[in-house]
Amino acid sequence: MKKSYGVNELRRMYLEFFESKGHLAMKSFSLVPHNDNSLLLINAGMAPLKPYFTGQEIPPRRRVTTCQKCIRTGDIENVGKTARHLTFFEMLGNFSFGDYFKHEAIAWSWEFLTKVLGLEEDRLYPSIYGEDDEAFDIWTKEVGIPEDHMVRLGKEDNFWEHGSGPCGPCSEIYFDRGPEYGCGKPTCGVGCDCDRYMEIWNLVFSQFDADGKGHYERLARPNIDTGMGLERLACVMQGVGNLFEVDTDQSVLH
Ligand code: GLY
Repeated sequence: MKKSYGVNELRRMYLEFFESKGHLAMKSFSLVPHNDNSLLLINAGMAPLKPYFTGQEIPPRRRVTTCQKCIRTGDIENVGKTARHLTFFEMLGNFSFGDYFKHEAIAWSWEFLTKVLGLEEDRLYPSIYGEDDEAFDIWTKEVGIPEDHMVRLGKEDNFWEHGSGPCGPCSEIYFDRGPEYGCGKPTCGVGCDCDRYMEIWNLVFSQFDADGKGHYERLARPNIDTGMGLERLACVMQGVGNLFEVDTDQSVLH
């Protein structure tokens, strides 16, 4: 049964869930990147962990979970216009540095959303990268998602890549907030720009090393990098209209 958890409860529940799966919970890193000239501000849970993904540094454990403070300027134009964009937000993440891979990442995301939080299964829609039949089979055959709840999207939406280095296909989990939040267009569905199908979690399967020129080598030890917007999750759990209406924002505004 879905309950209306607060932002602080959701953060704690997520970190405890992944601790129960063998992860080390680490504190949020500073918003100001350390030894990374490619970023002005930390924009994703994985950003401060890059040296662990590339093997430059040894992680304190091969399974790590964080709730990372983020500022994302790429979609800043959307702030105030959509229900789902913020400048500052917190990103929940679980990470595998050459340890578990797709099977566990997918199964645990489903377990957390449906068993721990009690989200209605029939309102959740996973997307996968077009060619990623492995992820499709895990979702449909192992987790049991009906095929009409699966969506295949292109490289622009479902392939996580920034220049050269570790990259790979991803699988995003969308929650259907209902037609009252939709644009009403006949084409409206997962991936539509409107606020009906809200992307809450992105599971990145970092399985290639890219040379930045279109050549991809399969990594001997692939990684997992996931990111879930804490405020988006709270918006869905609390059944409120937009991210500014979640409990913590409201307590500051009133
Ligand atoms: N690194 C996953 C995400 O930010 O969506």
